[in-house]
Amino acid sequence: MTGRMPADVADRLYGRLRDELGCGPAVLDVGVGSGAVSAELADRGVTLVLLDVVDLRGSEAPAAPFLRGSCCALPIRSGSVTGVHLARVLHHVPDWRRALAEVVRVLAPGGALCLTLGGRSYGAELSQLREAVFSAGAVLGLRAAHHSHQPHGADAVDAELAGLGMGTPELVDVSFPVWHTPRDAAADAAVHPYIWAPGQDLSPLVGVVERVLVESPLPPDEPIRHERVVCYRIYRAHRGDL
Ligand SMILES: C[S@@+](CC[C@H](N)C(=O)[O-])C[C@H]1O[C@@H](n2cnc3c(N)ncnc32)[C@H](O)[C@@H]1O
Repeated sequence: MTGRMPADVADRLYGRLRDELGCGPAVLDVGVGSGAVSAELADRGVTLVLLDVVDLRGSEAPAAPFLRGSCCALPIRSGSVTGVHLARVLHHVPDWRRALAEVVRVLAPGGALCLTLGGRSYGAELSQLREAVFSAGAVLGLRAAHHSHQPHGADAVDAELAGLGMGTPELVDVSFPVWHTPRDAAADAAVHPYIWAPGQDLSPLVGVVERVLVESPLPPDEPIRHERVVCYRIYRAHRGDL
């Protein structure tokens, strides 16, 4: 059973992002999280500066400079980075328009913004179990890390970036099969640091997971094959007078 991206798909996706971001002196990964995606870029030659409001880096994170800060007030000089990677961050940020303005401010002329709003990590059956865990957590008073579980629409993001002088995006989508048991999907929803705001006692969710599994018609320990989808939008800043 695996939830990992196959190596050939990773080469296709992250190789393309590397080609867009380039191997210049500084590509900013905004909202780096665990650093797992950053590592894919670093392994393919991208020189990164990592940034997040909270340090969630795990052992897989690349050995790159880390800045603590918000995408709404980037501690970076204007026009100083050759590329920005912004993956699955905007739905955490109430003032997402401000975040986009900041990203465009720090990009050098001709630089690339590789942005994903999230794609789909779990198929419908498993998503329902996870939603049941989210809802029960909210009833228990736990705070979600997401500003909204619905990513802001891609059209709204395109329009905002067009207004900031960025070109029409190129779309890069990959999909691949993954296998998870209902138990794994529900248990992940109960502990994942991207889902719950930091500093909370999540232990009440252990019982929630058991209840959700008992109430589900799905056999809890039987792997289900589903499709994971990752969608990037690649925008390029105008070259200006250069
Ligand atoms: C779903 S995770 C995505 C992590 C990584 N980019 C990836 O795709 O795997 C969202 C990340 O955005 C970060 N984040 C939330 N609000 C932020 C803000 N205002 N500025 C920068 N990062 C923020 C969170 O701390 C978290 O690490």
